[in-house]
Amino acid sequence: MIYQIYPRSFADANGDGIGDLPGITARLDHLVELGVDAVWLSPFYPSPQADAGYDVADYRDVDPLFGTLADADRLIAEAHDRGLRVIVDLVPNHTSSAHRWFREALAAAPGSPERARYVFRDGGGPDGDEPPNDWTSVFGGPAWTRVTGPDGSPGQWYLHLFDPGQPDLNWDNPDIRAEFLDVLRFWLDRGVDGFRVDVAHGLIKQADLANWREPQEILSGNEADRPRPPMWDQDGVHEIYREWRRLLDSYDGGRVLVAEAWVEPAERLARYVRPDEMHQAFNFEYLQASWTAPAQYAVITRSLEATDSVGAPTTWVLSNHDVVRHASRLGLPVGTPRPNGIGIGDPQPDAALGLRRARAASLLMLALPGSAYLFQGEELGLPEHMTLPDEARQDPTWERSGHAERGRDGCRVPIPWEADAPSYGFGPTDASWLPQPPMWAEYAVDRQREVPGSTYELYRTALRLRREHGLGRGTLYWLSSGDEVLSFRNGEVSVLTNFGDAAAPLPAGAELLHASAPLTDEGAVPADVTVWFRAA
Ligand code: NOJ
Ligand code: CA
Repeated sequence: MIYQIYPRSFADANGDGIGDLPGITARLDHLVELGVDAVWLSPFYPSPQADAGYDVADYRDVDPLFGTLADADRLIAEAHDRGLRVIVDLVPNHTSSAHRWFREALAAAPGSPERARYVFRDGGGPDGDEPPNDWTSVFGGPAWTRVTGPDGSPGQWYLHLFDPGQPDLNWDNPDIRAEFLDVLRFWLDRGVDGFRVDVAHGLIKQADLANWREPQEILSGNEADRPRPPMWDQDGVHEIYREWRRLLDSYDGGRVLVAEAWVEPAERLARYVRPDEMHQAFNFEYLQASWTAPAQYAVITRSLEATDSVGAPTTWVLSNHDVVRHASRLGLPVGTPRPNGIGIGDPQPDAALGLRRARAASLLMLALPGSAYLFQGEELGLPEHMTLPDEARQDPTWERSGHAERGRDGCRVPIPWEADAPSYGFGPTDASWLPQPPMWAEYAVDRQREVPGSTYELYRTALRLRREHGLGRGTLYWLSSGDEVLSFRNGEVSVLTNFGDAAAPLPAGAELLHASAPLTDEGAVPADVTVWFRAA
C-alpha cells in the first residue's frame, strides 16, 4: 500500500503555513501506525510554484519552501529505518519556465540547439501571430505562448500542454534523454526506492503536431471509441521507459517506476507495464468508475485481465491531489461525471452518503489483489473543501479556464492532526496556505485514534488484515456479480459490497472480519456497506 504525501499540505515544521520535509519526517510514525508500506512524495524541487511544484526549475535540489537536500536525505533515512520505502515524483514532460534550459532557449535564436530542447515553432497566419496548431492546454486556453525577442519584437511560439510556466520538453532530443538518466541516477544514489512519473503518456508528440480539433479534457487520455490524440500515448514513449528500466535494474533493492498515464482502455495502459518497462501504472479508469455493482465489476475485471496479460500487478486508487476527494465525489448522484472541483454555488454532495460510500469503496479497494494507493487524509474520511473562497484558489486551472473550472485546491487543503491545536496541528501556527474549514476539527487524527468505528481505525484494521492475509498478492475469485451486490474471495477473505437499497444477507455461518458500517440487527449487510468475512 502506497501512501501519497502532498508535501505542502501534510505537516508544517517551521510554521510558515506550507508543509515541509522536516514536517513529514516528524510525522512518519503516524504512517507506520496506519500500516503504510511506501510513501510517494509529490514534487519538492526548486520551483516558482506555478503548478504547485509540478513546474521544476532544478531537478537535483529541494525548494527552500520545503527544506534542503540534507532534509531530503534525513527523510529518506528515517523512512528506511521504519521500513517505509520512498518514491519521489519525476516530472519529465515539461520543466519550469525558470529552468536554466528554458532561459537559455529564450536568449537563443530560432533554430538553435538551445531552442531544440523544447518545442518551439513559428506561428501561423501571415504575421506568425497565430498559434502553430489548435491544441489547448489541459488547464484551459491555448497550449502555445508566443515569446518576444531581446528587442521586444514578437518571436516564435512554444508548446505547453499545461501552464505557460511549464514548457514541454522535446524528447526527440538526445540531450534530454541523457539529462533525465542522470537525474534518475542522482536520486537513486541518494537511496530513493522509485519514481512516480508525471504525465508519462505525454512525452512524445505526433511528429506533425497535427490539429486535434477536440477540446482538451483535464488530464484525460484517449478513450476507446475516439482516435488517439496527437499529444497523448504515442508509441514512442515506451522506448524511453525501457531505457529507464535498464538503469533501475542496475541498482539493488528493487527500485520501481510508476506511470501517471491517463490512458484508456486498460489494454493500452497495460503497455506501460510490460516486463521491460514500468512496474505499475495508476488505474484512473477505476477511480472514475460509477458506484454501481455492474460498473465496479466491469472495471475490476478489465483491470485484472489487462495487467495479467503483461504479468504486472494491478493498481487501485480512489483519490489524489488532482481529483475531488472520494468522500465527497461519491456523495454526488450516481453517474455524475467527475467534477473538476466543487465550490460555493455548485451542487453540493450529500456528505453523509459520500462518507458512507467512501468507506465502503475503500474497504472494497483494500481487499483487491494489487497495489492500493491512498491519498493523505482519506484515512480520516476527509471531504473536499467545497466552500473555499474563490480568492484563495491557487490552481492555475481557475484563472486559465476563465473561472469555468474551480480546479484542484479543494483536495489539497492542509490536513488536520489535532482538533484543538492551531491549524489543527498542521503546523505550530495558524498559518495554512489554503484556509482549512471549521469542521476540520472533527476529522483530526486525535479525534479518531483508538475510537471504534472511526474512519482512521477502519483503515488501520483493514491495512493490518490486508497484510496478515496477503491480500495485495492474492487472487480474486468472483462469488457473485449481480446488479446490486458484488462478492468475491481473495484467499481466506471473502468480501461483499451492497450497492443496492435493500439489506443483503451474508452466507450462513459467515464469520465477520471487518465492516465499513454496522450490520443490521438480523446480521445482513445494509446499503452502501462492504464487509470482509470468512466463509463457513
Ligand atoms: C499531473 C499532476 O498530478 C498534476 O498535479 C500536474 O498539474 C500535471 N501532471 C502537470 O505536471
Ligand atoms: Ca513550512
